[in-house]
Amino acid sequence: MNYMNESGKLNIEDIKGVLIPGVSFGSKINFHDQIDSTNTEAKRLLAEHRGEGKNLHGILVLAEEQTNGRGRLGRDWSSPHEGGIWMSLVLQPELPAQICPMLTIVAALAVNSSIREHTGLSSFIKWPNDIIIDGRKVCGILTEMAGLSQGTPDIVIGIGINANRSEFPEELRDSATSLALEKGEKINRNVLIGKILNRFEGYYQQFLRSRDLSELKAEYEEFLVNRGKQVRVLEREGEYTGTALGINEQGVLLVESKEGIREIISGEVSVRGLYGYV
Ligand code: BTN
Repeated sequence: MNYMNESGKLNIEDIKGVLIPGVSFGSKINFHDQIDSTNTEAKRLLAEHRGEGKNLHGILVLAEEQTNGRGRLGRDWSSPHEGGIWMSLVLQPELPAQICPMLTIVAALAVNSSIREHTGLSSFIKWPNDIIIDGRKVCGILTEMAGLSQGTPDIVIGIGINANRSEFPEELRDSATSLALEKGEKINRNVLIGKILNRFEGYYQQFLRSRDLSELKAEYEEFLVNRGKQVRVLEREGEYTGTALGINEQGVLLVESKEGIREIISGEVSVRGLYGYV
């Protein structure tokens, strides 16, 4: 691979240099060369500071390597010291818990549009929040809530991007790719992180206005790779197939099956293409 624009290491000052003045996301960055999981670390921070008010909003935990990266549905997330972006953003909105899962859709929109802008690659979103290029996954998002018993919950949005990785373990080779592999050159991770934070905060403000996805639904659906496609929905109770129509204003996937339109709520459900991952 031709690695032009060798971009080097993660650098807090370089990330902050990209942030639009006034943006609070990433105004504090906790960097670790190695950590178990940035989501776990964010939750440890929240637990340490519980009862001190909402003073961690916007803090970003960022690591060069995770030794115990976690994915959705209890899966592991491979996150070696090889040019990935492993980061978790803490949000402390005054929002009821049932609204918070929609933030994962907001995050996916921010990551997808930032990847497009920064790399020029044609990335898409696989519901609810995987970012896909050419049928393979480049990014996953794990949203977790903490402090549920103390009023409105704190949110941790964990974002894992295969940025400059050139290799994957055998079991991921068919389903995963990286931005560098797709582009044929390394990308500048600091700039991409800064752009994601800027965009995420913008979309987040739009989301807060309506407390649903009404302002963001059209843009999300424009990039929804499943839209109009046959999908297989894997639930704990069994599986069925149908056509993915789009999302509603709560981020629920609408699938037209033989029994009519079914509403798929993220969480314990996997959605796959009929012949593979997408
Ligand atoms: C998925 O697609 O299953 C979600 C993957 C989320 C991975 C990120 S990497 C940063 C953060 N820390 C973790 O342990 N997981 C998330």
